[in-house]
Amino acid sequence: MRHRYRVAAVLIIIVIICLLNYQIDKNLQKEHEEHKLALTNCMKSGRIFNSSVPETKDFGSSFTISFADIQKTHSWLYLPKFQNSMSSEILMIVASRTDSFARRNVLRKTWMNPENSEIIKDGRMKALFLVGMTDGDDSRMRKVVMEEARIYGDMVVVDLKDTYEELPFKSLTTLLYGTSKASEFKLIGKIDEDIMFFPDKILPLLEQNLIDPSSESIYGMLFAEGGYVYRDKEHRWFVPDSTYGCDMFPPYTGGLFYLVTQDAAKKILNATKHRIFIPIEDALINGILANDCKIPRIHLPEIYGDHHSLTDEDTRGVLAWHTGKNDQQFLDYFYRKLSESRLKKKILDEKNKHLFY
Ligand SMILES: *[C@@H]1O[C@H](CO)[C@@H](O)[C@H](O)[C@H]1NC(C)=O
Ligand SMILES: *[C@@H]1O[C@H](CO)[C@@H](O)[C@H](O)[C@H]1NC(C)=O
Repeated sequence: MRHRYRVAAVLIIIVIICLLNYQIDKNLQKEHEEHKLALTNCMKSGRIFNSSVPETKDFGSSFTISFADIQKTHSWLYLPKFQNSMSSEILMIVASRTDSFARRNVLRKTWMNPENSEIIKDGRMKALFLVGMTDGDDSRMRKVVMEEARIYGDMVVVDLKDTYEELPFKSLTTLLYGTSKASEFKLIGKIDEDIMFFPDKILPLLEQNLIDPSSESIYGMLFAEGGYVYRDKEHRWFVPDSTYGCDMFPPYTGGLFYLVTQDAAKKILNATKHRIFIPIEDALINGILANDCKIPRIHLPEIYGDHHSLTDEDTRGVLAWHTGKNDQQFLDYFYRKLSESRLKKKILDEKNKHLFY
């Protein structure tokens, strides 16, 4: 008899637990739905459909980047001439400061050098710099930049101001250059000049189809939804309520290094005119605009966003690392890591050879 009571008691407790769980699940689900609705609603603020706003467009020797509230027209001051290779796949554009002459030479010596990168050597990746300068800049520096562009043939020069606020325009110029002047490339990449970069790390990602150049996607270091929107006027990343209404940014890939497929880039460029401008490059382009166009943002491994995220002795692989290294430290680390990975590969190849014979 007592045994039966016990069974009944246990059963009742189980039922209660199930009911509680169900209620919690339902509440969570409700919360999730409410959150989604709130996000959809707040994403509408800053989105404007005004048919008089012109398109973001290339006109040959000039181009317009057009937001709902700001339109800017710029000129291509220098366009590089290069031979298209049948194997052209990735156009990598380095956002470079006007006077970073030494840094550009460091990059030409390291990852852009065909001897150090298979993907560059076999023509699958082409690397260019994007440099902005205006009439207000020192005229001697302007002359040297144009001379450098002519000598190396690896620079796109535009009359853009080299300031933080202009960064989104610079990155959209990258996408516009890729879609209008170099549309044979399936992927358009943007990278900062202070990023340690090993382009050959992209090869296995392409082989494993983790990167699909024929899709509509953005690849990079993914920040999940929840990037904080600063409402403090004094903050460097201040965003007024009226221009973007959500408390969080949608998921976005960090601005240090990302790849955009041709189709995704075209959609993003079409979407700018329906959005009010905000001066936060990665959250705006790879987050808000990508979200407006429903372009998936996909995480790639081995990208490190901060110079604290790795030490020089760390043996993990590196695709891209925001290092903060000076030119000499950059060269030293690049060559050491490259020879390490080549040695590793040689040992692995030897091992495989022995397995086969
Ligand atoms: C639509 O855009 C045009 C051109 O930029 C502008 O003059 C006009 O004020 C805008 N209309 C509205 C309702 O915002
Ligand atoms: C972009 O807009 C133009 C002009 O409205 C249109 O012809 C084109 O199909 C659009 N492209 C994409 C990828 O949405």
